[in-house]
Amino acid sequence: MLSWDDEPATTTLPQAVRASAPIKPVEALAEDLDLDRPLAAAAATPAANNANGLHPENTGRVRVEDKRIINCRSDVNQLVPFKYKWAWDKYLAGCANHWMPQEVNMNRDIALWKDPNGLTDDERLIVRRNLGFFVTADSLAANNIVLGTYRHITNPECRQFLLRQAFEEAIHTHAYQYIVESLGLEEGEIFNMYHEVPSIRDKDQFLHQFIETLTDPEFQTGTTENDQKLLKSLIVFSCIMEGLFFYVGFVQILALGRQNKMTGAAEQYQYILRDESMHCNFGIDVVNTIKAENPHLWTPEFRKEISDLMLRGVELEYRYAEDTMPRGVLGLNAPMFKEYLRYVANRRCQQIGLDALFPGATNPFPWMSELIDLKKEKNFFETRVTEYQTGGALNWE
Ligand SMILES: [Fe+2]
Ligand SMILES: [Fe+2]
Repeated sequence: MLSWDDEPATTTLPQAVRASAPIKPVEALAEDLDLDRPLAAAAATPAANNANGLHPENTGRVRVEDKRIINCRSDVNQLVPFKYKWAWDKYLAGCANHWMPQEVNMNRDIALWKDPNGLTDDERLIVRRNLGFFVTADSLAANNIVLGTYRHITNPECRQFLLRQAFEEAIHTHAYQYIVESLGLEEGEIFNMYHEVPSIRDKDQFLHQFIETLTDPEFQTGTTENDQKLLKSLIVFSCIMEGLFFYVGFVQILALGRQNKMTGAAEQYQYILRDESMHCNFGIDVVNTIKAENPHLWTPEFRKEISDLMLRGVELEYRYAEDTMPRGVLGLNAPMFKEYLRYVANRRCQQIGLDALFPGATNPFPWMSELIDLKKEKNFFETRVTEYQTGGALNWE
């Protein structure tokens, strides 16, 4: 545990990091700062798209009625008065659900993985491919938030949630790495699957175009065209990435857990599923609020484009299901996932006000809904309570 006497962390920076940041002479720092430049740049920035809330028009007190999710002119540095209570409530719920990967005991998983008869080859393939997608997927999600979404969302209570969400994505990447390390998997193989396994690569490539839109430093909202691009990227992330692309993997690992296999990994996935379900719901609230505040963006052509993207998402995720599960395993098979993905896609469409794409699709995994809605009951792996508060965990000794 760190104490007040510990050396500052900078002394433990790896050589490569220290070497890449030489100390600059004072004159060079002054050049970097260029004290006259920020004001000139701010004046040239469109009024409605100022990411840091320091626009010259922002001198008045913040009024609730002036707050908007995008293109807001009021000061984004003032959290209150709240306008979007749902965003603040989700931030609080995220904090109440805080967890860390090392809290989960992986001993049973390690023993099972090492036992030659512990798992079948098909079950091992599921675990490896699963981690192959997730070890990089949450980094994509984090980068998208930090380098993209955060800049374009001009509301402080939503930004507060995004800050929490970014840290949760780091925890998820940590959890997947922790599983890889615990099981002694070949890191080079797992961490490169997003380059090397086509069904994983295709999902990530589909996402890249939308990440690039948001993270392009030149991209700014404030025109119908660009606001639609932003809205499209937000929908892709909340409804297709976090709301669809994660679900085959979650079902597979949680199905292992239900059979008392890989229970530590399954417990971690359960926490992650709870977080992701919150991210997805937050994203959907953001999308619906942007739609309500900017109805001109929601044209028939735009809706058609979104429906087509959702169809493409279902196709890509189904291909991933087939690739991770060439044969039936754990009472699951790829056709069941086709139905499940159709069911989930319908739900996502309806949540953002689009018609269901696959009328009549049903949920072959009703137990997944119970898991997402888990509150205070002990989880089904019988290891611990899944909803807990961390406020009492401080130790001042
Ligand atoms: Fe995540
Ligand atoms: Fe997420």
